[in-house]
Amino acid sequence: MRIEFDTPIDRFMLVHDIPTPALVVDIAALDRNIRRMADFFAAGPCRLRPHFKAHKTPEIARRPRAAGSCVGLTCATVSEAEVAAGFCDDLLIANEPIGRGKCDRVAALAGRVRTTIAVDSAVGLDAISAAACAAGVTVGVLVDLNVGQMRCGVLPGAAAVALARQAAGTPGVELRGVMGYEGHVVSLPDRAERDARTREAMAGLVDTAAMVRAAALPCPVVSAGGTGTYDISGRIDGITEIQAGSYALMDTDYGRLDVPFEQAFWAIGTIVSRPEPGRCVADCGHKSMTKDHGLPTVRGVEGASVVSLNDEHATITIPADSRVAIGDRVFLRPSHTDPTMNLHDVIYALEGERVVGVWPIAARGYPEHLGQGTRHKAQDPSHNVVP
Ligand SMILES: Cc1ncc(COP(=O)(O)O)c(C=O)c1O
Repeated sequence: MRIEFDTPIDRFMLVHDIPTPALVVDIAALDRNIRRMADFFAAGPCRLRPHFKAHKTPEIARRPRAAGSCVGLTCATVSEAEVAAGFCDDLLIANEPIGRGKCDRVAALAGRVRTTIAVDSAVGLDAISAAACAAGVTVGVLVDLNVGQMRCGVLPGAAAVALARQAAGTPGVELRGVMGYEGHVVSLPDRAERDARTREAMAGLVDTAAMVRAAALPCPVVSAGGTGTYDISGRIDGITEIQAGSYALMDTDYGRLDVPFEQAFWAIGTIVSRPEPGRCVADCGHKSMTKDHGLPTVRGVEGASVVSLNDEHATITIPADSRVAIGDRVFLRPSHTDPTMNLHDVIYALEGERVVGVWPIAARGYPEHLGQGTRHKAQDPSHNVVP
């Protein structure tokens, strides 16, 4: 898959010229976030494996790798990994791929780049083994542990060691270790509570890694962590890599925490109505930024707050004497980075007011569906024919 990293743009394009709604990223703020994270990991044995799902944007994903302290990228989906393989040679898919098509695609990826997946079942292990053997490749596996999030994963301890033993004896796969994402505690606002509960969750992961090794099985990788816990899990003995992703762009949800990262991206809209002195409306609603973690906040307009997001409208209360006028640009801080990025095709890269790049959000959506209609039509010409 060919990736256009940076579409050339008009040299004189300014933020005011961008059609709205749109996303913008401040390159300087992005690079400061990336530098802070790289410096943190430069100081210890643990490494960073940034999560690509946070932004799905190759031009952003390449930057932490260039800044150092990275071992590769984490992906949530096979299609993210297919995009990431265009510029990164070491990928972790932090989920268990299920289904023949997905496993075949993972095996094809493993023929191109070092590929590791999470597994939490014998069914998943057998499926990836069959695909890997058919393709003549080796796929790495991490046993996925439920460290308290109550999502996927086997329980720490004996059940995990049993699956690790099974993985070690399965053809076409290589046991590379364990992973356990502490998603239930990453955004706890109180530092002491977040610290204590992260340590509790990570104890199960590290202890299980020790049990796997005691069973004479390989366990070089112990993978965990997010933006709210990178500096806790990332300093625990035995954790080898951290999967944080949101830190690069940030959002208001993580902005509540005491993490040293700044807001680096915004959804922008144009003020299209000021129906009364204390209210204005912008042309950016929840089809351009999600509200699953709350309403966005407004940058740079004293006393302004978003009171509702409709499909294509943000309603904003403002002081009656505010100078906001129809035609002005408004910058909103989204509450949740990942699904907001997923709504857009591109993000405009800014240096100050100047647009210096238009970066494709190349892994947005579910690109494997593109072209399916054409294929299906070819198989059955009666289908999809418009009368
Ligand atoms: C498996 C996994 N690892 C790591 C993360 C960390 O991401 P963030 O940087 O948003 O905390 C997530 C986020 O949902 C995740 O699902």
